[in-house]
Amino acid sequence: MKPRRSVLACPGSSVKMIAKAKTLPVDEVFLDLEDAVAPAAKVQARANIVAALNDSGWGTQLRVVRVNDWSTEWTYADVIAVVEGAGAALDAILLPKVTDAGQVRALDLLLTQLEKTCGLELGRIGIEPQIENAVGLRNIDEIATASPRVQTLVFGPADFMASINMRTLVVGEQPEGYDFGDAYHHILMTILLAARANGLQAIDGPYLQVRDPEGFRRAACRTAALGFDGKWVLHPSQVDLANEIFSPRQAEYDRAEEILDAYAYHTSVAGGARGAVMLGEEMIDEASAKMAQVVADKGRAAGMTRTTRFTPPRNESE
Ligand code: GLV
Ligand code: MG
Repeated sequence: MKPRRSVLACPGSSVKMIAKAKTLPVDEVFLDLEDAVAPAAKVQARANIVAALNDSGWGTQLRVVRVNDWSTEWTYADVIAVVEGAGAALDAILLPKVTDAGQVRALDLLLTQLEKTCGLELGRIGIEPQIENAVGLRNIDEIATASPRVQTLVFGPADFMASINMRTLVVGEQPEGYDFGDAYHHILMTILLAARANGLQAIDGPYLQVRDPEGFRRAACRTAALGFDGKWVLHPSQVDLANEIFSPRQAEYDRAEEILDAYAYHTSVAGGARGAVMLGEEMIDEASAKMAQVVADKGRAAGMTRTTRFTPPRNESE
């Protein structure tokens, strides 16, 4: 799967912001029809999005549209407008406020019909369910497996905090009075585990204080450390930070590649067919190789190149 370290949120109502989004080095852009677009502007935003998707000038970003959730009157017409208008230029639909598998299946069925009628490749357009309330979190496993189109699970912190009555107005920060630990840990881990159990990417949502890069760094580092694959960005100033934080550090990437090479060599017959060996000061084995594979995969997907080489030891008798 292509990386989604930085996922840029861009209102579909703003032609200017869409034009800017095309030029930013993000892994994904999602053009929004939902909460960043006022009800009176939604119909025009559909047209803006179709025109923008069909336009040239995009880089390698994944192109995604967030439609309105199924409790509104807009969802089906959003999907029909963007897929009929620009289905070939669309990588996925971001479906907000998902509560259960039925909502994902309904979108899957609609997409399949549209792909058929528009002559598009069947099943290519992905689905990114957004987990934004207690019901969605409770049903996360059925949501994750509701359709082969599901590619990611996306956290929506603002709606989620509102849905569970968390006592704060600052999205991405700890609620005042909760002075020990991370108030989001359970939610984040539940999303991460469901993603990993089903081979999906786990994406963290927005940090709304766009003029506070240190706050963004703090919030992004927390979810990157857990194992999340990326985070939403709302402003150009957050883009480089997200790409950096959700890629391995160079030394970490080099070490991972070195562990993989060393493990492959030492477990081979030529290398002595040993399962656990010393690499520098550290004992490595099958589990170390698995951890290294995760870091190496992220580094390779991010286009990193290694700066060190593994050299097999000369004397194999020790
Ligand atoms: C994003 O949609 C959020 O609710 O945080
Ligand atoms: Mg939301």
